[in-house]
Amino acid sequence: TTARFTLDPAFAVSEVDPRLFGSFVEHLGRCVYTGIYEPGHPAADAAGLRTDVLDLVRELGVTAIRYPGGNFVSGYKWEDSVGPKEDRPRRLDLAWRSTESNQFGLSEFIDFVRKVGGTPMMAVNLGTRGVAEALELQEYANHPAGTALSDLRAAHGDKDPFDIKLWCLGNEMDGPWQTGHKTAEEYGRLAAETARAMRQIDPSVELVACGSSNSGMDTFAQWEATVLEHAYELVDHVSLHAYYEERNGDRDSFLASAVDTESFIEKIVATCDHVGAKLKSKKKINLSFDEWNVWYMNPEAPAHTDPPQEDWAEAPRLLENHYSVVDAVVFGSLLIALLRHADRVKVACLAQLVNVIAPILAEPGGPAWKQTTYFPFAAASKYGRGTVLDVRPDSPTYETEQFGTVDLLHTTAVKNDETGEVTIFAVNRSQTRALPLEAVLHGLDLTRVVEHSVLSDEDPDARNTLENTERVAPHAATGTTLTDGTLSATLEPLSWNVIRLA
Ligand code: AHR
Repeated sequence: TTARFTLDPAFAVSEVDPRLFGSFVEHLGRCVYTGIYEPGHPAADAAGLRTDVLDLVRELGVTAIRYPGGNFVSGYKWEDSVGPKEDRPRRLDLAWRSTESNQFGLSEFIDFVRKVGGTPMMAVNLGTRGVAEALELQEYANHPAGTALSDLRAAHGDKDPFDIKLWCLGNEMDGPWQTGHKTAEEYGRLAAETARAMRQIDPSVELVACGSSNSGMDTFAQWEATVLEHAYELVDHVSLHAYYEERNGDRDSFLASAVDTESFIEKIVATCDHVGAKLKSKKKINLSFDEWNVWYMNPEAPAHTDPPQEDWAEAPRLLENHYSVVDAVVFGSLLIALLRHADRVKVACLAQLVNVIAPILAEPGGPAWKQTTYFPFAAASKYGRGTVLDVRPDSPTYETEQFGTVDLLHTTAVKNDETGEVTIFAVNRSQTRALPLEAVLHGLDLTRVVEHSVLSDEDPDARNTLENTERVAPHAATGTTLTDGTLSATLEPLSWNVIRLA
């Protein structure tokens, strides 16, 4: 009943692209307004950004930040969001049945990204708009000077270009809920022509084509194949989106959610490579897992806190899930799944960043705090940089309704190429049993356990709330040893673990 594996730097998966630790800011609910932006909040800076939230975002360690949607982008008119704030129009946001004030726009987003040390990942609207508007946005954002739109940017106070390198060609265009939803043929052609035109401005842009909205879509995998048949040589990545929630009290299956994530990734890799083979291409398409998280779509779930929604409200409370310890353990397992596939997943965005299915909650006029999911993300971003080692555990298993027989241990390891330090991320999926772990280290000059930090709780449903913002936090494990090249540890039931070796 001991889980075992071997670590050897001779067997590596890939270097980690730092953009694997990306996130997502959508004009949705209170992610932007009263989330990251709230002029008049006691902690707001001169630009109206909440410095308490900025501090938490910096500590979280997010890299690429996707913006402005999401479903919102399919009705987005970028020009509404630039220039003097008093002249910006109020618009209907069809995606979320809200009113968009445009008081936070492109320039404010770039200011936010720079203040948190991230990189922008901008989406263009391929729902209600097309090639021309994508090019206009690209010229406004990136052209140095001397054209109508680049000079307009300078006149708006942004002399320096925004230098946006990574672009999403629309969002979830396979979904019937998407404004301007398209067939795979229609979207494939539009994505290819938008990509071709954007590369005429700048051949070095990195482009993400929309994959399926989730792996359960009727058109799943065929959508990707058709889109790539049109756009293969013109794009760099295809997107994946996945959300998980506990259904009907089946916690054992929920804890195994990453089984689905890994198989989803493997199916899309196979689909991309199949199209590449058919096209006799030398190029490989990578994956941008640009929406992933735990998300309770069931309004009865205890994570739910949204009041009934009023039509066309401004910054309503939407998708404000309050995450538990068990959610954080599943969330950590999703991070492990992404790292285990770092050879093809080059970008990933935790959806979303503040208030909306987010690791950070912020009350209007009040405090901002860390949800349970904040901790696994911050640790993975801090210690998950370097080379992912190929970990093949031999683990005890358990039975699940959704996924059959599943390993109790879900794990990966990342070697920091500068310091030689290795960090093991591990989840014990058992709700009741502690899991003994033994890892043999080969070819690694490691002699001590720097830290074994655990997120677990007597009450797996515990959460950090406005009333008690610090109820849940990681604690130190005891009894973890590294002797003669063998690591021994015990993983508490239902736990996320970070074991650092030097
Ligand atoms: O992240 C919330 C929503 O989920 C996004 O707007 C959309 O792309 C997805 O369906």
